[in-house]
Amino acid sequence: MAEPCRLTTDRADCVACGRPQPLPAGAAVCDCGRRENLAVRYPLDPARRAALLAAVAAGERSLWRYAPLLPVGARHASRLQVGWTPLIDCGEVEGVRLHLKDETRNPSGSLKDRASEVVVAVAAARGVERVVVASTGNAAASLACIAASAGLTAVILVPQTVPQAKLAQILAYGATVYRVAGSYDDAFALVETASERLGLFNRSTGLNPFTREGKKTVALEIAEQLGWQAPDWVIVPTGDGNILSAVWKGFRELAALGLIARTPRLVAAQSAASPAIARAHGAHPLLPPPDAAETTVADSITVDRPRDGTAALQALAESDGLAVEVDDEAIVAGVGEAAARFGLFVEPSGGAAVAAFRRLARAGLFERNQRVVCLATGSGLKDLRPILGAVTPEWLDRRAPLVRPGDWQSIAPS
Ligand SMILES: Cc1ncc(COP(=O)(O)O)c(C=O)c1O
Ligand SMILES: [Zn+2]
Repeated sequence: MAEPCRLTTDRADCVACGRPQPLPAGAAVCDCGRRENLAVRYPLDPARRAALLAAVAAGERSLWRYAPLLPVGARHASRLQVGWTPLIDCGEVEGVRLHLKDETRNPSGSLKDRASEVVVAVAAARGVERVVVASTGNAAASLACIAASAGLTAVILVPQTVPQAKLAQILAYGATVYRVAGSYDDAFALVETASERLGLFNRSTGLNPFTREGKKTVALEIAEQLGWQAPDWVIVPTGDGNILSAVWKGFRELAALGLIARTPRLVAAQSAASPAIARAHGAHPLLPPPDAAETTVADSITVDRPRDGTAALQALAESDGLAVEVDDEAIVAGVGEAAARFGLFVEPSGGAAVAAFRRLARAGLFERNQRVVCLATGSGLKDLRPILGAVTPEWLDRRAPLVRPGDWQSIAPS
C-alpha cells in the first residue's frame, strides 16, 4: 500500500456551532453534540485565486480543473471523467433565460459522481482500500463506479425499494451490496454503526465532509460556463440537502476569491411526500405546499431526516433562497418536459427541479430576463417509472401503436 499523503488543507468548521477544528481523515461529526457535518476550510487568499485560475487555464476537462479548491490533488483522480458537464442553454422560457446543468453525463449518470470522485481520491490519498455508503441508489451506483475505476472496494447499503436500474448498475460495477429491509434512514444508521465497528471509511452524506467538496464543483462550473458570473437562481432537487449546501459553498468560495461579483438565490425543490427541508424553511406565501402525499416517484429525494439539513437551511437563508414542494403529477410532467422540450431525459429528481421552476415562474417570482439554472441531477434511464410506471395496454396502443412490417400507410408524421 502507498504511503498516506497529506490533504491540501487541515482545517474544518462545524456547520452547527461554527467551531474550527482539525479536518478529520474521514467521516466525523463535531463533539458539540449536534452530530452535524463539518465544512472543509481553505485559506481563500490571492495565492489560491492565482492557483485556481492557472489550473483552469490548463484546461483539464473534469472537476479536477478546480483542484486548488479541493482537499486532495488530481494525482488521486480515478481514470473516469467526472464533471465538466454541459450547461444547456434552453433559451427563453417563461420570460427568463433557462439553463439545464446536464449531470446525466457523469460516468454513473448522476451528480453524485462528483462526491464519489473526491471521496475516493481522499481515501486513496489516505491509503484506505474499502469505502462504505448508505444511499437511496445514486450515491451507491456512483461510489461503486468510481471505486471500480480507482481499484477500491465499495460496500453498499441501499433500501430494498431501490429502483431496479440503480441496483443493476451497483451490481454491475462489482460492489459488495446489502439491501436493507427498511428505509434509507435505516440503511444510513446501519452504515454508521458498521463503519464505526468495522473501521470502514464512510462516504455517507452528512458524515463525510468531502462529499460537499466534490459536489460544490458544479457551482464552480456553472459560474465559469457563464463567464465567471453567477446565475440569478439555481434550482436544486433536495433530499438530504448536501447538494444544496455544496452549491452554496461553491458560489461563496468563488465570491470570496473575487471571481464572481454576487451569489445566486438558491431554491430547494422537494417532493411533497418528503418535504423536511421545505417545512423547516417555511413556504413562500405564493408557493403553498400541495396536498401531502404518502409516497413519491422521486425516490432519490425521499429522506425523512435530512443528513445535511442544517447546512442546507443555512444555504437557503444566506442566499435569500426559497423552498418549494412539488407533487408527483408535476414531477412526472417535469420529466416529460425536460425530455420532449429540451432533449434531456432526467430521473424524477430532475423533473422536480423543472416542476419547481414552473411553480416559481407562474407565481411571478422571477424577474424578466433573469438567468435560472435547474440542476438535472440524474439520468432518466435510472428509473423508468415516471414514463412507464402506469402503462396500460390501451395507453401503449395509443402512445406507441403496433404496426405490421411493411404497413407504411399507418405511419402518419404528426
Ligand atoms: C439524482 C439526485 N438528485 C438529487 C439528490 C438529492 O441530493 P441531496 O440528498 O444531497 O439533497 C439525490 C440524492 O440522492 C440524487 O440522487
Ligand atoms: Zn459543533
